[in-house]
This record gives sequence, structure tokens and C-alpha cells, in this order.
Amino acid sequence: MFDSGVGGLTVLSEIRDRMPFENTVYFGDTARVPYGVRDLTEVRWFAYEIIRYLTRLNVKLVVIACNTATAAALKTAQRSFDVPIIGVIEPGARAATFEAQNRRVGVLATEATVRSRAYAKAISNIDAGIRVREQACPEFVPLIERGITEGPELESAAEVYLRPLMEDPVGAVILGCTHYPLISATINRILGPEVRLISSAGQTALEVGRILSRRGYLRRPTHAEDFGSPVYVCSGDPQEFAALGSRFLDEEIEAVAPAEVGSRRSDAPLLY
Ligand code: DGL
Repeated sequence: MFDSGVGGLTVLSEIRDRMPFENTVYFGDTARVPYGVRDLTEVRWFAYEIIRYLTRLNVKLVVIACNTATAAALKTAQRSFDVPIIGVIEPGARAATFEAQNRRVGVLATEATVRSRAYAKAISNIDAGIRVREQACPEFVPLIERGITEGPELESAAEVYLRPLMEDPVGAVILGCTHYPLISATINRILGPEVRLISSAGQTALEVGRILSRRGYLRRPTHAEDFGSPVYVCSGDPQEFAALGSRFLDEEIEAVAPAEVGSRRSDAPLLY
């Protein structure tokens, strides 16, 4: 699985909780974070480059553990690669349609995800009568990647972003960026307990389990303690990734392998 940074660890953590015997490779593209302020075409190149990297490791499934990269690359990547690829937008959209009693859903996401309208389309495919209000939150990811998950700086940004969702009350809010579960306490406090917060991480993990089991791909442990091992790779500073990642996963990340990124334009996939 991959993300622009540490946000996708929220998905990894759900996958490991539900499928502790699976081996995982997590790629954090920390040299190029944030993705959310970039052009979707550029994010698509990045996603293809990382998917190629992962498929060379013979993975049996790729999770795009990043909403922005899902919006930019999921459909074309599914057509381009043989390995099954899943994203995080559809699972979250589906959960929101169940949770929003008043059929009004808010989406907090990066600028690029909001621009793609991927959530509005995914929700409308399930229930075209649901009103979707999307809000870009460009300051969240840089704060989280600096390790700031609470405090006045975050609060004041959150208050500005959440105001429109409170003025036209929504029944459920999708955390449409895999970084945002790390700041859900602040979001929850501002929105109040009556608004359901939805993170795609758990839903995505369920879907991963379904696909692996249906295809007969689930790893068979040899004994009860034969847990899968997590591998971490990042394109930026491995030490920084290990420190921040350990904090967010609440478990020591011992080793992070460095990876070179930066495909030339001519390496970019044919997209259409
Ligand atoms: N965590 C990613 C997402 O879900 C990317 C955030 C970013 O790099 O801007 O959108």
C-alpha cells in the first residue's frame, strides 16, 4: 500500500488488526508530500511509479491508501496493471450513505480530491438524492506531517474548514484524506457528537479481506504466532518517517528502507 506520507498508516493499522498474518509493504512518498496541492495528472504519475515499484516486489494486492492518489489514478491503474488494486474512496462513500440519516454528507479532503469530485460521484452512484458538501483542508496534511495533531494551530484551521458544514448541518462527515483520522479528536469536538465521522480505513480493510479471501490469496500461517511482517519504505528521510510513523502506529517502526523516486515524464503511463 502507499500514501504520500504517514496518513496511509491509518489504513495499514486496520489491515493488520483484521489480517494479522498478512505480510505488508508500506510506501510513504515523503519526498513529494503533500499530494493534495498538486495537479491530478502529476499525482497519477507518482502513483504509477509506486505501483510499479510494489508490483516488482510481487505483492498480491495494492491498496492506494491515499484519497488523492485514488482520485487521480485508481481507474486507469486498474486497467493498466494485472494485480488487483483498490482505493479508499468508494469504501468511505458507501459507509457515509448508511450513516447520514438526513441524507446530507460532508467531505473533508485535500484540494485535489475535492477538485476531482470523486466523492460526490461515488456517493451519487449509490444514492443520487444525497447532498454532498465538499471542503478542502489544505493546512491539515502539512501540520500532521510535522507531527501536530492537536493544539491551537490545528484548532484554528479546523474551525475555518468545518464552519460551512455546521451552517448547513450534515449527518455524516467523511474524513476523505487518510491523514485525517489522526486529528479526528479535534474534528469530532468541533462538529459535536451528533455528526458521524467516517474514516475509510476500516471499510477499506474489510474490502481487502474480502478480495484476498475470495481469490484464495489469504496467507496461511504455520502456527498461531506466525504473524505477518510489515516492511516500510519511504522516499524521504527514513529516520523521520520511522519516528513519526511509530508515534502514529503506536508501535515501534524499526527499519525503513529508502527508495529513489522521480520518474521522467517519458516514463509516464499512457493514461487515456
Ligand atoms: N493522505 C493523502 C490523502 O488521503 C494525501 C494527502 C496529501 O499528501 O496531501 O489524500
